[in-house]
Amino acid sequence: MSMELKMSGLWRYVQDDEIHDAEPLVKVAQDTLESCKGAGNDFLGWLDLPENYDREEFARIKQAAEKIRRTADVLIVIGIGGSYLGARAAIEFVNGQMYNQIRPEGTPEVYFAGNNISSSYLNDLVKIVGDRDFCINVISKSGTTTEPAIAFRIFKELCEKKYGREGAKERIFATTDKERGALKQLADDEGYETFVVPDDIGGRFSVLTPVGLLPMAAAGVNIDEVMKGAAQARIENRHTTDHLAAKYAALRSILHRKGKSMEILVNYDPALVMFGEWYKQLFNESEGKDHKGIFATSANFSTDLHSIGQFIQDGTRMMFETVLWVREPRSESIIKEEKDDIDGLNYLAGKSVQFVNSKAYQGTLLAHVDGGTPNIVFEIDRADAWHFGYLVYFFEKACGISGYLLGVNPFDQPGVEAYKKNMFALLGKKGYEQRKKYLEGRM
Ligand code: PA5
Repeated sequence: MSMELKMSGLWRYVQDDEIHDAEPLVKVAQDTLESCKGAGNDFLGWLDLPENYDREEFARIKQAAEKIRRTADVLIVIGIGGSYLGARAAIEFVNGQMYNQIRPEGTPEVYFAGNNISSSYLNDLVKIVGDRDFCINVISKSGTTTEPAIAFRIFKELCEKKYGREGAKERIFATTDKERGALKQLADDEGYETFVVPDDIGGRFSVLTPVGLLPMAAAGVNIDEVMKGAAQARIENRHTTDHLAAKYAALRSILHRKGKSMEILVNYDPALVMFGEWYKQLFNESEGKDHKGIFATSANFSTDLHSIGQFIQDGTRMMFETVLWVREPRSESIIKEEKDDIDGLNYLAGKSVQFVNSKAYQGTLLAHVDGGTPNIVFEIDRADAWHFGYLVYFFEKACGISGYLLGVNPFDQPGVEAYKKNMFALLGKKGYEQRKKYLEGRM
């Protein structure tokens, strides 16, 4: 089975008949999504993407990835939000958090820039590149986002200085709109190879487009497997409401009605930290609007059990957890016996670290459920490329259904503009003069 839903963490909180009663509404939400008749329906290109993707471009992605691997020790991936999180989540999901130190042979180190406005971070990255050969993948659908634009100026200059303008054009790959925007224009003027962010796919739903696929492929992630996993999730989670994406959306909605206004996506392996970051963007940008929504966050156990675990067990009863448990670790380690047993661990001698992790998972689940935090649990066999693709599509589909159940447009993000307007005004950008005066008067 691709993924298993376990309901034991919900026994006191959600009854079978409540799930049954929710079905008609879930069906309406799903039909609205699948018939492309709901709000934001011009952004549903991701729905059939695992089948209907551009094969010619897919082949070009593999060629470009091969060129990057051949010519670069370091790949700098520049982008923010939906133009960044999916690729990083994939690379770490498949290879672990320490990809750059123990990456597969022949792959470049991969660093992400343009996802913050820290000069220290940028300077550190420049130092990391040093004298080594590097390539750049700059990703921006709009082509005008401030954070990646600043980072791209710096790394483009570095690239041109090192390789000349002609050489740089062989090393810069731009992923952007197919015809509009500043980045597209620059790429055409300079002769960079370009890849397309489709018009009908929003940033946070773009992992399975060149946005995510080119950095993944460069890092040696098998993108054929990613697409196969996504295709399987598409087949398994459609038409009826008897599938996991619909059930998950129903459970979120039921728990929300019962006052659970925060969801924590829990993992038990640092390889999934960035997957949690990707999920946070997906759900918060999709549902957090019109003064509605479940606040989606993530936690990394057992690490966070030693910090926020206290609150989850005992604090305000406003949350539920969705646990993503991976059954088989990438590699195993066995606990050895020690003669003196000073740390008292000999009772675990011969057991695997994953066995201990699994007991931490089970014990935590029961403790949290007893403490008033319901748990939805999904189990998968492995954190590989196939399961990454599966999970991406699964959460996207569940998010679409869930957004319509909530009564919002899950495919826009009007709220993210507010900070940008203020920042532009305070920076003195042309056209924002009035706002600048008004804001400065308030500070
Ligand atoms: O989901 C979204 O649309 C956003 O998070 C964008 O991906 C993010 O703001 C980056 O935008 P762009 O790709 O236009 O630079």
